[in-house]
Amino acid sequence: MNQLIDTLLNHRSIRQFKDQPLSKEQIHTIVQSAQQASTSSYYQAYSIIGVTDEDIKQALSNVSGQFYVKDNAHLMVFCADFHRAQLNSTEEQKKTMNGNLQNTEHFIVATVDAALAAQNAAIAAESMGLGICYLGSLRNDINQVSELLQLPDYVIPLFGMAIGYPDHQPERKPRLPMNAIYFENHYANDQTLENQLDTFNNQLNNYYQNRSENKRTDSFTGQIHRKLSKPKRQDVTDFVKHKGMNRK
Ligand SMILES: Cc1cc2nc3c(=O)[nH]c(=O)nc-3n(C[C@H](O)[C@H](O)[C@H](O)COP(=O)(O)O)c2cc1C
Repeated sequence: MNQLIDTLLNHRSIRQFKDQPLSKEQIHTIVQSAQQASTSSYYQAYSIIGVTDEDIKQALSNVSGQFYVKDNAHLMVFCADFHRAQLNSTEEQKKTMNGNLQNTEHFIVATVDAALAAQNAAIAAESMGLGICYLGSLRNDINQVSELLQLPDYVIPLFGMAIGYPDHQPERKPRLPMNAIYFENHYANDQTLENQLDTFNNQLNNYYQNRSENKRTDSFTGQIHRKLSKPKRQDVTDFVKHKGMNRK
């Protein structure tokens, strides 16, 4: 074990932050760490928007319905971004490139690039004693987020990240047993997985019933089935297509 592994294994999402700002150096180091993540084909196909304007933060918080989108030391929005391909290019190049950018492959490339950069940012922040929370809730109104941040075509806001000094200490949330997510050579059989899920359902229920905040009775498979049984953010498909991506 080393300090980095300790940081990784101690992760928990933080949703209450002290009223204590980050220094410019801290923000710089977090972004620099994000930038050093591996990137598919060296595209660096993402952008990070640091939101410092209180009105924009409030509007984003309204979109998400979560107070910690506003009440944090720093808010970043991670975007899949192939806009840079549009620059310094001829009309002819653009036509060919934009045809190719419409496929699912390039959408995956840009979303994975953004996620890798974000997770590097998260680890950098946590290694400094800060806490973070990812914010997929910004996609509650992806069109409004795009307008607020003035995002051009080929730029898709994926999620935010609230960063700051933790003002609560939630328990670590359990994860699936390792043999339910790590297989060697071939996928596991369903009976084995179902047994592991049964065990984990009990373990997670135990965690929910005994944690210090928001106690409840629930199971892992129960919450997955419940969430996936409802339609969700159905405007995202058209939004992504409208931006020029994932059309074919
Ligand atoms: C892409 C992504 C989006 C998320 N969006 C939200 C969100 O909108 N609001 C929130 O409170 N937590 C959000 N989370 C945090 C997850 O709920 C959390 O990581 C998960 O429940 C595990 O808990 P832990 O991070 O405390 O271990 C998000 C996490 C990820 C990776």
